[in-house]
Amino acid sequence: MAKLEAKNISKRFMAHEGSEMQRFTAVHDINLIIEDEQFVCFVGPSGCGKTTLLNILAGLDKPTEGEVILNGRPVTETGPDTIMVFQENALFPWLKVMDNVEFGLKMKGVEKDKRHEIAMRYLDMMQLTKFANAYTYQLSGGMKQRVAIARALAIDPEVLLMDEPFAALDSQTRDLLLVELQLIWARTKKTIVFITHNILESVVLGDKVVVFSKRPGSVKKEIPIDYRRPRLPEDENLRPYYRQIIDTMKGEMDRKDDGTD
Ligand SMILES: Nc1ncnc2c1ncn2[C@@H]1O[C@H](COP(=O)(O)OP(=O)(O)OP(=O)(O)O)[C@@H](O)[C@H]1O
Ligand SMILES: [Mg+2]
Repeated sequence: MAKLEAKNISKRFMAHEGSEMQRFTAVHDINLIIEDEQFVCFVGPSGCGKTTLLNILAGLDKPTEGEVILNGRPVTETGPDTIMVFQENALFPWLKVMDNVEFGLKMKGVEKDKRHEIAMRYLDMMQLTKFANAYTYQLSGGMKQRVAIARALAIDPEVLLMDEPFAALDSQTRDLLLVELQLIWARTKKTIVFITHNILESVVLGDKVVVFSKRPGSVKKEIPIDYRRPRLPEDENLRPYYRQIIDTMKGEMDRKDDGTD
């Protein structure tokens, strides 16, 4: 069953071209079906519109054309069913780590003890138990990102939209979380859309990898990854999938970047 659907989505922005403002197309005519409980990865050149599309899927931004369908209904604004983990972490600096993770639960009306228990479970998973009472400015970039992931998971949304959540992590933590996220996903049956620049990450995580073209971003190819889980990044059998994505992306790197109307 289709959980989330992008139908003919295009987005245009205004941008400076020298001294003039120019309208340009950031994403062009995107059609995508994301099945219930599917793990979908987006990869593509920087600036091709991945974050723009994710914002639109989350209902945080409106498309210029087209529509987003969630559970069979058009999305017009953000709701509790979809949660976004941002590219740059968006924690509340005035709240302690634990309170950041509990925030969404509080909004949902979960009572204090239960909230605390859930928050501690996810902080433990992210190996941050010791920092539960710290403020976010006392954490490193990677630690903050893990708090943001814990916060999103704690809310237990039906659809999780993640914008490069592992980009700021060291490779050991990333490898750990690559496996952990697959386990969480298998256990909780979430629908996940995950943007990454790391091709191996996309192959380890994705049921399918959507490769985007250069600006204006459109779907270049959807590559299914039919391989057993949990997958480990060092598994040699993932190589052919990796190659296929690299080859698909290669042509894009050489193409002229031009989204102007
Ligand atoms: N609010 C905005 N106003 C004007 N232009 C924007 C806006 N948001 C994004 N853009 C432009 O749209 C294009 C796509 O940006 P977007 O952030 O979606 O790319 P991306 O694929 O996520 O890139 P990266 O991989 O570097 O994160 C870029 O050219 C960017 O400058
Ligand atoms: Mg982005």
